[in-house]
Amino acid sequence: MDTLTSYDELPYDSLPLPETQPDFLAAVARLHGFDAPDPARARILELGCAQGGNLIPLAWRWPESECVGVELSRVQAERGAQFIQQLGLSNARIRHGDLAALPDDLGAFDYIIAHGVYSWVPPSVRQALLDVCRRHLSPHGVAYVSFNVTAGWAPLQPLRTALIERTAADLPAPARYRQALRVLHELEAEWRDPVLRKEIVFLKTAAPSYLFHEYLADFNTPVSFGEFSMQLESHDLRYLGEAGPRHAVVELEDAWGLTPEGMAGRWQDAESALDEAHATRFRRALIARAAAPCAQPPQAGALRSLAFYADLQSDDEIDLENASEQRFINPAGSAFPVAQPVMKAAVMALSTAYPDALTYPDLLTAARRVMAEFGASNSVDEALFRAALFQLVAAHGVMPCVSAGSAAASPGERPRAHALAQRQAQSPAWVVSGLRHVALDLDAPARRLLGLLDGSHTVEALATLMQAALAGMGVAQSLEDVSERTNRQLWLFARQGLLVK
Ligand SMILES: C[S@@+](CC[C@H](N)C(=O)[O-])C[C@H]1O[C@@H](n2cnc3c(N)ncnc32)[C@H](O)[C@@H]1O
Repeated sequence: MDTLTSYDELPYDSLPLPETQPDFLAAVARLHGFDAPDPARARILELGCAQGGNLIPLAWRWPESECVGVELSRVQAERGAQFIQQLGLSNARIRHGDLAALPDDLGAFDYIIAHGVYSWVPPSVRQALLDVCRRHLSPHGVAYVSFNVTAGWAPLQPLRTALIERTAADLPAPARYRQALRVLHELEAEWRDPVLRKEIVFLKTAAPSYLFHEYLADFNTPVSFGEFSMQLESHDLRYLGEAGPRHAVVELEDAWGLTPEGMAGRWQDAESALDEAHATRFRRALIARAAAPCAQPPQAGALRSLAFYADLQSDDEIDLENASEQRFINPAGSAFPVAQPVMKAAVMALSTAYPDALTYPDLLTAARRVMAEFGASNSVDEALFRAALFQLVAAHGVMPCVSAGSAAASPGERPRAHALAQRQAQSPAWVVSGLRHVALDLDAPARRLLGLLDGSHTVEALATLMQAALAGMGVAQSLEDVSERTNRQLWLFARQGLLVK
């Protein structure tokens, strides 16, 4: 096969995916008692990388890594390759081709990423994907393979069936998508099932490529965790852990005396039961070679060797005296309840430090300092702190990584954005990615400003340029208002790690 027409016609929104960052994957592996390779100097392979919206920012962030993407849709692969060339990025390349036909001399990779591929390809390509992991993972390498899970998808199948049956398969993808939108309106009027109605409401505003590739494409094959584990076994691979957010974590009681293999078996049974109990819809499985050391369920003790970052805010006044539950919200709008005063203080310290990460001891010290500053008792029970941190890390309110390091820069007199951010800002087909590998939702004026940050303009000159740019967009604003807006925006860029020192 030379290309994939549906993805050529309706390219996937190619975004940075925070859960695929190798320094995050290494941290999750460590929580499972597994030592993954150094992410800063890793060879990274991404299968089905679309136009490289995930791979390219990884290569940019880790200049000593080597990043290879494989993509069958010619349009997407060529777009990515062109962007890499424009950036002059020497440690990234995108191959146009079939992941099922990779040459052996591609070598070994420390991290293999396949997001949104496994369930969306024919059975032979699913087998080939796991075969690539078996053949190309380095001895302690980690693969990330996401897939749709039967437990959460079975109730949605009637919707997929109806959308396929009521739309014309021979239409080009964009036209079929528009037809599907009309069908969704019909179904909303006809159907009463609350799960399906909720999904219909979501799909009406979801990205066109999402609706098409989940609900209309030839393949969307959910699998159960048990089936997936069996597939791993038959490819000489093993389950290592979960990279997705979790609201419940498996803890094995009476595990004393079990062999590592016995423990792995019990753990996998518990994971299957969790899927049924929570109607899990999507998994991000981490995988190692069968010959690599056996992993175990996540252990809170391993947090001591990690670093953490978080971008959480709260509208409430934080109560550092009482263990009253308060909600912190991340930029995507997900809420994380926190009760322990010391954990609330830790979240405040992390949000101040963002995008920098704090090591475990530094986080504990910073939390104590916050408690002292606010006059709260700063005697801290470390076991309670660790348990609360463990929960937040499992839910992805706080993200773990393996190295701290400071990356933030303030706007300064003549703000300069790094070249990737400038180019992304200037190219409408690319999303701007923050240092922590998040997609930033920037409007046209913000993109224009970011694109101007080549270090040659003072903040005042930028405000004048932006006033003219806004006027060109039909927005008349006083210089004072534009200056204020520009300043606010510059600090936001700084907070996302887009500016260089
Ligand atoms: C659902 S999209 C996910 C894209 C990207 N990984 C993401 O999550 O944003 C699946 C991607 O896999 C690509 N793909 C499908 N079959 C492939 C194959 N046999 N070899 C390489 N890429 C393939 C598609 O073209 C598409 O870009």
